[in-house]
Amino acid sequence: MARILDDSPANIECLAQALLADRLVGVPTETVYGLAGNALSQSACKRIYEAKGRPFHDPLIVHVFDLEMLDRVAIRHDRLAEVAAAFWPGPLTVILRRRASVPNVVTSGLDTVAVRIPAHPAFRHLVAAASIPLAAPSANPFGYISPTTSAHVEAQLGDRIDFILEGGPCIVGIESTILDLTHPKIPRILRPGGITADRIEAIIGPVDSSIISMEGNPDERVLAPGLLDRHYSPTTPLHLRNRAFGPGELEALPVRVAALCFRRPDSAVGQVGANTYWLTEDGDPAEAAQRLFSILRELDAAGYESIEAEPAPDEGIGNAINDRLRRAAGAGQ
Ligand code: TXA
Ligand code: MG
Repeated sequence: MARILDDSPANIECLAQALLADRLVGVPTETVYGLAGNALSQSACKRIYEAKGRPFHDPLIVHVFDLEMLDRVAIRHDRLAEVAAAFWPGPLTVILRRRASVPNVVTSGLDTVAVRIPAHPAFRHLVAAASIPLAAPSANPFGYISPTTSAHVEAQLGDRIDFILEGGPCIVGIESTILDLTHPKIPRILRPGGITADRIEAIIGPVDSSIISMEGNPDERVLAPGLLDRHYSPTTPLHLRNRAFGPGELEALPVRVAALCFRRPDSAVGQVGANTYWLTEDGDPAEAAQRLFSILRELDAAGYESIEAEPAPDEGIGNAINDRLRRAAGAGQ
């Protein structure tokens, strides 16, 4: 069992010391909970991979307090100042050229490093107290749904880590957007997330946001090694429909199949059954993103035979929700 600690000054000091001694701490961020270790320590970072069961070819994100700390791990790109002023601290990860101080295990041997300045106040206290960059992938076993509460982290990694910093439920609920600034021609979005492509384009102009499918393409796998087609999956098979549930379609589902709607179905769609779930009451996409992973876990624990999910409206953070639902459904969708 991991000890779950609140962010009192004494606890933050204890957790900072643990991190400096190469131990791992479950940490809250505004996106999802992370599994943090000293990004400059090869042995701490190896432990992160081992605790997650993550393959070493899938590099880690490094979390820093500010741009000064960023300089210890990465080289600033010309566009970084604008991006940082607009979105940091916040749910955006930027790929930059790395510095030699970063152990190879963090970057999977790439010459780039993923960096983020997180916004969650408790996590920021901890990064400041430890005064070191912290590598932190999402705190889930590799391939499973990311955690959005300390209880999710405890349930899955509690026997493998010593501490979890309590930070309440994550506000954004899905992982950060990953923006690659190192491409010679055009910045690209490698993963849709908390910050939409439109907002990034408003700051730096055109970005390539065509989502890349990694399967069967060894070159692209080097570009974004972790973006495997099947990821964030519940154990229960999930099927992503190509359109919302229509009249009569909910009633037609067997009781052992859960219906996952974007918003509470109205009477035109039909009766809501015990197997009908929704991400948001009134169609707020931010609320839907925030609840997505918790609901997937709830459905997984409820023993359904399968989950039939409808897509979110495909705009803004809805893109990121649909990306996670596609990944939960596995390749070929
Ligand atoms: O919101 C988030 O980003 C959360 C919180 C904890 O910060 N973290 C997170 O980390 O989602 P993780 O490890 O689950 O996902 C990081 C992704 C992986 O797909 C990895 O392959 C990619 O970032 N990545 C890391 N370094 C990279 C690099 N140098 N080039 C391309 N992709 C990279
Ligand atoms: Mg992850």
